[in-house]
Amino acid sequence: MKARIAVLPGDGIGPEVMPQALQALEAIAKQFGHSFEFRHADVGGAAIDKTGRPLPDDTLKLAKESDAILLGAVGGYKWEGLAYDVRPERALLGLREQLGLFANLRPAKLYPMLADASTLKPEVIIGTDLLVVRELTGGIYFGKPKGIEKTADGERGVNTEVYTTPEIVRIAKVAFEAARKRRKKVMSVDKANVLESSELWRRVVIGVAKDYPDIELSHLYVDNCAMQLIRNPKQFDVLVTTNLFGDILSDEAAMLTGSIGMLPSASIGSGVGMYEPIHGSAPDIAGKDIANPIATIASAAMMLSYSFNLDQEAAAIERAIVRVLEQGYRTKDIQSPTGKLVGTQEMGRLIRAELGKA
Ligand code: IPM
Ligand code: MG
Repeated sequence: MKARIAVLPGDGIGPEVMPQALQALEAIAKQFGHSFEFRHADVGGAAIDKTGRPLPDDTLKLAKESDAILLGAVGGYKWEGLAYDVRPERALLGLREQLGLFANLRPAKLYPMLADASTLKPEVIIGTDLLVVRELTGGIYFGKPKGIEKTADGERGVNTEVYTTPEIVRIAKVAFEAARKRRKKVMSVDKANVLESSELWRRVVIGVAKDYPDIELSHLYVDNCAMQLIRNPKQFDVLVTTNLFGDILSDEAAMLTGSIGMLPSASIGSGVGMYEPIHGSAPDIAGKDIANPIATIASAAMMLSYSFNLDQEAAAIERAIVRVLEQGYRTKDIQSPTGKLVGTQEMGRLIRAELGKA
């Protein structure tokens, strides 16, 4: 197959991990007879420096005209003082909104050989294999009214948590469909004991569940869920939740697997999908060849599977990652006393070498 992939490396460690993912894709293309055309564009702080805007029109256009998007990370100290509407993070929100990427899939699966890299006890986390389905274009991230206004005694900052029936129905369906391919359990996470928007969320999810009698649906309040995630993560299969709760719980879920440097994500909607590591730009370690490229390489694997239906190819990448970890190679974030410490580029090369052996 032929595919056009928009490549948006972004900031911080983004431009360091991205080449490793692209080279893994090249290796797959060669091995399986595909052709991937990579088309690069600036996003986030890199785009601000060149054009003054985090998501230039050209970048958005390129993204829209591609078959899939691979994104590194955005943000950094340099741009932290800027106004909200021109910050690097806006690029992500803009892409999500403009491309209608309403569902964010964040799998958190523990590789058993990394159990000692987590801050949690091995017996708690071994067996963790869950998927956070986060609503991505609604909720408090986008709700109106929003803003900061002057008042008699200072200022007033406002954001609005809002969900409509269709928004909840479509994300619930994504979660139930995903559960069908997994262990057939969905946990819907809300704050229905306090928030009206959550009361509606729960009611609508229960309605959608009627079409999925084969799936076991349960509900948790978000505070309890945060606790259950570190108390007994094995109980979870698919978690479905709002934009803000999903943002928070997916970082927590990442730590169950040892390092946020391991976790990929997919953002999907009706058209083009966007794939990115969940770790962010990590400006503190940028430019040192120590970042873990696995999350980005695994994001490329998710792209192959979700956007192009190339499940075999995606599995090949995942197997290569596992083999390299089995051989004891570790980047700094997942290093153990007996691990063989390698840098970003070397980790990428090792994974490609494994791909070549398959
Ligand atoms: C994420 C990030 C983003 C979010 C930020 C960078 C806008 O934290 O993808 O989880 O809050 O969605
Ligand atoms: Mg986040």
